[in-house]
Amino acid sequence: MTTLPEDAFSVLQDAADRAIAYRRAIAVADRTPAASYGAIHAAFDGPVPDHGDAPEAIIDTLATLAEPGIRASTAPRFFGWVIGNSHPTGVAADWLAAAWGQNAANVSAAPAASAVEAVAASWLLDLLDLPREASIGFVTGATVANLVCLAAARSEMLRRRGWDVEADGLIGAPPLPVLIGADAHATVYTALKIVGFGAKRVIPVVTDEIGRMIPAALEQAIAALDVPPIVIGQAGQINTGASDPFDAIAPIVRAAGGWLHVDGAFGLWAQASATLRDQTRGIEQADSWATDGHKWLQTPYDSGFAIVRDADAHRRAMAISASYLPPASADERDPSDYVIELSRRARGFAAWAMIRQFGRKGIAAMLDQCCAIAAYMGERLGALPGVTLVAPVALNQAILRFGDDDAATLAVIKAVQDDGVAYVGPSLWRGQWVMRISVSSCATTMADADLTIASVARCWDVVRGPVAAV
Ligand SMILES: Cc1ncc(COP(=O)(O)O)c(C=O)c1O
Repeated sequence: MTTLPEDAFSVLQDAADRAIAYRRAIAVADRTPAASYGAIHAAFDGPVPDHGDAPEAIIDTLATLAEPGIRASTAPRFFGWVIGNSHPTGVAADWLAAAWGQNAANVSAAPAASAVEAVAASWLLDLLDLPREASIGFVTGATVANLVCLAAARSEMLRRRGWDVEADGLIGAPPLPVLIGADAHATVYTALKIVGFGAKRVIPVVTDEIGRMIPAALEQAIAALDVPPIVIGQAGQINTGASDPFDAIAPIVRAAGGWLHVDGAFGLWAQASATLRDQTRGIEQADSWATDGHKWLQTPYDSGFAIVRDADAHRRAMAISASYLPPASADERDPSDYVIELSRRARGFAAWAMIRQFGRKGIAAMLDQCCAIAAYMGERLGALPGVTLVAPVALNQAILRFGDDDAATLAVIKAVQDDGVAYVGPSLWRGQWVMRISVSSCATTMADADLTIASVARCWDVVRGPVAAV
């Protein structure tokens, strides 16, 4: 079959029907267990088909075989990771982006995608209250946002020392020290590896008991250097939710002539709530920020934002030029000037749609609601006999320990996962396993918190044994 038959497009309706049915069911499901990798692999496995199939049959097979193994991360009691909700409005916008088949590389290939991305970028700067002159790259997620921001930092910090890293690379470049809070997220190290700073070569800065960089330790680390550094801070530690004291550390970095980058995959969103923004006070003084749409803005995956105060440095690090790619005019914006890819999905449509979905006030209310639920769950669970709330709940993260050994905590987590009412996961904090509860979905309510608390309490009773449960 070499041409599209007249009814080729009806498969889009099939997919929409399946998606709507799935989301309706999952939103009210009592239990949401998922089939194993092995079971799903076996269901799909087989030789490469010799011939094509009918579109409806393909989509029907895909949905029927995959759905048993779809983790219910859009369900209201999913607390395993900071995963947001893939809100239906964002999904619908994303479907259109895919159906329109736009390559959001540049203005010529995708005029609407480029323009909407420009509007979404200025809305994001407004909502997050960051310097309005900053530029934003629409990337896959915070990992790549960190990478893009660090590439811009590398470009500018070496340019100031007379080195053109884009032309000459890092071999033979002047040394460029990188300081990083000791409780940074694992993916920042991925970015460090790729931009050539090395995951081990960076200098850790001591943090406090909830993972915040200690300003005096930063000052001391900078004093030991003889050139200005790149400093990597964090808004929203993945276990405790804590953010660095930016109002103290930003002036230290600035006085040293350094570049402050902030990994704010979810924590940067505190800026969008009057109640929460005290936790990120001073963050706007940084030079670059990485955050996600697919966490607290509730967009579908993949959606991240690489935000750089110095748009020239951002473009220098990222822009692609070739004779066959007509550049944007002065009042237009080529999306590929700010990201590592040329060809890509038009991510701005979903970001724009989700900001319209909630509006400024709705975003603030949703952030506040997630944090209130996390605080409630942390407090209620921490009050159960033998259970400890390991750190005060900051933002949307609660970490708990059951009894005084790792085994009991891990057993409770496994029991809760098997119970299927809610999904929680394990994490290591200060060398000990904890149950981590991340509240990041606009679908979660206090009633979901209560159902989850009841499930955790039941499972803890079982793990403690019949005597303890009396
Ligand atoms: C603090 C922090 N930084 C970075 C990341 C990486 O983000 P992504 O998975 O969207 O690339 C995460 C993801 O969980 C995170 O929580």
